[in-house]
Amino acid sequence: MKRLDGKTALITGAARGIGLALARAYVAEGARVAIADINVGAAEQAAGEIGPAAVAVRMDVTEQSSIETAVAEAESALGGIDILINNAALFTAAPIVEIARTDYDRIFAVNVAGTLFTLQAVARRMIARGRGGKIINMASQAGRRGEALVAVYCASKAAVISLTQSAGLDLIRHSINVNAIAPGVVDGEHWDGVDAFFAKYEGKAPGQKKREVGAAVPFGRMGRAEDLTGIAVFLATAEADYIVAQTYNVDGGNWMS
Ligand SMILES: NC(=O)c1ccc[n+]([C@@H]2O[C@H](COP(=O)([O-])OP(=O)(O)OC[C@H]3O[C@@H](n4cnc5c(N)ncnc54)[C@H](O)[C@@H]3O)[C@@H](O)[C@H]2O)c1
Repeated sequence: MKRLDGKTALITGAARGIGLALARAYVAEGARVAIADINVGAAEQAAGEIGPAAVAVRMDVTEQSSIETAVAEAESALGGIDILINNAALFTAAPIVEIARTDYDRIFAVNVAGTLFTLQAVARRMIARGRGGKIINMASQAGRRGEALVAVYCASKAAVISLTQSAGLDLIRHSINVNAIAPGVVDGEHWDGVDAFFAKYEGKAPGQKKREVGAAVPFGRMGRAEDLTGIAVFLATAEADYIVAQTYNVDGGNWMS
């Protein structure tokens, strides 16, 4: 018996990076997974590699109609959704005096509104089905404190932690657990982009910021996407039924709270 046998999951932004690692881990534990991403070509490739337990779904979490269509498509392919992981997000960086309103709007549309309205769409269906569910939001250590150059992304992830608390408190009466994971610095394409921002604004050589943040992690290295799979599986099981509205740091010791 695997830990997620018979369960269905929708994971946003799962065409690559952390979301893809979580999709693989869920399938390995017996779940069937919808890989939902704005990059549907990459999502289809990922689902094809994982096998018949995964389906690709086109989803833009900034568009309400796309959210509704994607959730409906996932349910028609897999059956009712038991687990949602709100993982899709964008990163940006700029000094305070250079932040563009368009950039702020873009980041908040994906990271905050995308999280809230995907959670809402899935929660409505979970409530109607009457079997509860698990919702996991991908926050960040960036949501725990502000950072020079990273104001918008940090604020968006602080909002994800806050939404996790409010939704967790509201939805537990329907046996829907809402919790979050706050990764630290996880190597991959996302961090290649982060590194490029720091090269631009701090005059660092390409790859230098990555090496610095990796060396500063108490564990001794940057995180890997696979470092997040243990907690993501656990939070989706009945073992986590009494865990409500929490955000778990999985960051090699970077942050304590
Ligand atoms: N990598 C890290 O160091 C790190 C650290 C802390 C938190 N996180 C968080 O973990 C999550 C995954 O990070 P990652 O490193 O795998 O990122 P990533 O950039 O590699 O992957 C993000 C995915 O989201 C998709 N996406 C972007 N906009 C979308 C939209 N509008 N609708 C649907 N999908 C969209 C992208 O196509 C991509 O596949 C994010 O929430 C991120 O903020 C990452």
